[in-house]
Amino acid sequence: MMQTQTPPNDPALEAMRKLSRRPNEKLDHIPGPNGLPLIGCSFDIIKDAPAFMQTEFKKHGPVFKVNGFGSTSVNFADVDAARMMLLNKDKNFSSELGWARVAGLLRTGILLRDFSDHRVHRRVLQQAFKRPVLAHYAEQLNQQLKRGIESWPKQDSFKFQHKLKSLLLDNAASLFMGAELGKESDALNKNFVALLNATVSLVRWEIPGTSWYQGRNGTRFLRAWLEKQIESRLSSDKSDFFTTLLKLSQDPESEMNLEEVIDHTVLLLFAAHDTTTSTISTIAAMLCEQPEWQETLREELLQLSGDALTLEEFNKLPLTDQFFNEALRRYPPIFVVLRRCISEFEYGGFRIPSNTQTNVNIHLLHHHPDYWTDPFKFDPDRFSAARAEHKKDMFQFLPFGGGAHKCLGINFAEIQTKILLFHLLRNYKIETAAGRKNRFNHLPMPLPKDGLPIKITALSR
Ligand code: HEM
Repeated sequence: MMQTQTPPNDPALEAMRKLSRRPNEKLDHIPGPNGLPLIGCSFDIIKDAPAFMQTEFKKHGPVFKVNGFGSTSVNFADVDAARMMLLNKDKNFSSELGWARVAGLLRTGILLRDFSDHRVHRRVLQQAFKRPVLAHYAEQLNQQLKRGIESWPKQDSFKFQHKLKSLLLDNAASLFMGAELGKESDALNKNFVALLNATVSLVRWEIPGTSWYQGRNGTRFLRAWLEKQIESRLSSDKSDFFTTLLKLSQDPESEMNLEEVIDHTVLLLFAAHDTTTSTISTIAAMLCEQPEWQETLREELLQLSGDALTLEEFNKLPLTDQFFNEALRRYPPIFVVLRRCISEFEYGGFRIPSNTQTNVNIHLLHHHPDYWTDPFKFDPDRFSAARAEHKKDMFQFLPFGGGAHKCLGINFAEIQTKILLFHLLRNYKIETAAGRKNRFNHLPMPLPKDGLPIKITALSR
């Protein structure tokens, strides 16, 4: 079985682990708020992270430090810094150490790996996202999402975000694990919510009642749920992602052991439904706020014949694509991409000491006045072929990150979102109560504060 320890011949990884527990050097020479004793700026960030980041960006420019959630990080908000950190040519930025504090409950999941070790595991996981596999997912998603939407209440208002989240979790379990959740769905959902909330926990000790404690219990529950299936999966003829990796782990030459398979599966299920719940909720909220765009997308989707959206038809939906991109720009589900530098470096006239938490601030890049016109306006046309604002620089629009850790589920997310819109908008009108205003929570992910109460009405065709 594969060693989970650092390969001894990888000097960058060796250096990184030696550093990992040393406290940050002082960052007094870098501008930015220290906030209150102990809690730093945590409450301001929780209250309204985008507003807080914008204020600091305006005061200090694209490099500033923030003290919050028990540590000080340096935020970077221009394309050159994003390019340097994500392409990571000198192997100076560690994802494992960057995410450890926030997402350490995901243990050895792919995001918490670096360099040659990360490459080995990523190559295996990529098998689940090859085009023929995606075509199979698309077929399944057409059936499952259509059925799911049909089961939602009609005429009566309901909280869209909650129904959507459990539908997408059911999808993820079915596609990546070949599991029909049934009654287990609610319990799993609850534990994934606990895991997500733990990412922004102020206290990171196992004290009962804290969100970290609940997140820890959540991961234990999810791991136990997967572990109890190992035996039956190994003797089954299933061919889903989870079973395939489990069987692979039994080969003495294998690159993964059982523990790692469990960690990868928890991370994948987590990534596969929480991020898309955020994006599709944002899209639905904006389609209610801008009914003319709802009609435009409906017309575009109705031009397609057939009862299912196939992979070949995706390039026939330029306006749906613009809307999808604008939702990801304005409300990126992953607000910051977290890294920690191994060696000291200089950027923008500042010396950044070794072992500093360094964040690529996706929210600030997506609202940078040099790259976007009227950046706070929700304006899908900025992505049109005529305007193509996103094409100024490869690193200005990074909802899915970039470089070695670029989102593995990028195509899956697009397929899931567009198939859902295909079945929803072709058949139903969606609206919120008159006078309702869109207000979002931004952490841990952007979501409508009120759960998005929505009414869907069947269209006569
Ligand atoms: C709108 C939806 C999504 C967004 C905005 C999103 C965003 C991201 C971002 C920004 C990263 C990079 C993090 C970093 O570099 O530190 C990432 C990584 C990842 N995403 Fe997504 N994601 C989405 C959906 C999905 C889906 C549906 C899946 C799985 C089916 C998925 C699986 C992953 C995995 C496994 C990684 C880690 C890749 C690695 O470390 O090599 N994501 N995602």
